[in-house]
Amino acid sequence: MPHHPGRYPTTRLRRTRQHDWLRRMVAETALAPADLIWPLFVHEHEASHPVASMPGVERLSIDGIVKAAAEAATLGIPAIALFPVLDARHKTDDGRLALDADNLLCRAVRAVRKETGDAVGIICDVALDPYTTHGHDGLLRDGRILNDETVDVLRRQAVVLAEAGCHVVAPSDMMDGRVGAIRAALDAAGRHDVCILSYAAKYASAFYGPFRDALGSHAALATAAALGVADKKTYQMDPANTDEALREVALDLAEGADMVMVKPAGTALDVIWRVKQAFGVPTLAYQVSGEYAMIQAAAVNGWLDGRKAAVESVLVMKRAGADCILTYFAPEIARTLRP
Ligand code: PBG
Repeated sequence: MPHHPGRYPTTRLRRTRQHDWLRRMVAETALAPADLIWPLFVHEHEASHPVASMPGVERLSIDGIVKAAAEAATLGIPAIALFPVLDARHKTDDGRLALDADNLLCRAVRAVRKETGDAVGIICDVALDPYTTHGHDGLLRDGRILNDETVDVLRRQAVVLAEAGCHVVAPSDMMDGRVGAIRAALDAAGRHDVCILSYAAKYASAFYGPFRDALGSHAALATAAALGVADKKTYQMDPANTDEALREVALDLAEGADMVMVKPAGTALDVIWRVKQAFGVPTLAYQVSGEYAMIQAAAVNGWLDGRKAAVESVLVMKRAGADCILTYFAPEIARTLRP
């Protein structure tokens, strides 16, 4: 409720909207490159390969990722989030490659660290979906996703990633108890320095479709679903709920999360708001692949101004309370914001 509602005609709210300088002067929210995190896909090939459902996004070689990290530094983007895209022949039922210290992601992390040191933060997902034939984030047995057995793998995956040099591990799997297990494992390995960004309120969302295309896990998940096998709904949250999101955040903080994330962002602005108000901790939001795809698809068709829509969509996430937004638009927006 505004403190001074005022009264027309002495109060005319259009007065402060007249000029660009005046609008900038009274703006409550400002977007800066430091508010953006750039998610990137790394694959095992030299040539980059476009993601069909995400116009403008490509799967990059390790060299390509190193260049992108340098670009992020130049643009003032504080961190990148790396996602590996494995060839199908490297995926297994148990996703064991996740624990290999020489896997694609670990090699990419080492290459980026070598080139950019600590100039750009490196965030890595902790989850098994890039590595499993079935595309699930956890271990699958008899049509169910096993919780505690998965957590046992995830905590080891987190240590492998930390040893490769990533600054932030981001469990995106939504298993119960994983944040505490990962914190304990990192500490036991002497890695008190590595941060945990938990995907705390992660919804079972149709908006992850293009990301799963990028990883090549879409078809596998569809086949599993057709066979009546587990659905990500058994671990990701129901979009109907927000109280549950607060409970997820509370648990993850109690277990040692340094930062929490709400995802997807655009369909959960109310959740971002509630989380930030309730806990006052670093709250991140992920504008996911499907949100990016919707804007780009309309832009490609000339139905809206893609750049303006991108900036507006991310600005309102910040207005809702997000301290930082993971978005595939990060470099484009950062370039737009440059004076
Ligand atoms: C997997 C993961 C997903 C995303 C980030 N990590 C997909 C999923 O849960 O199926 C989605 C990101 C996006 O859609 O941009 N653990």
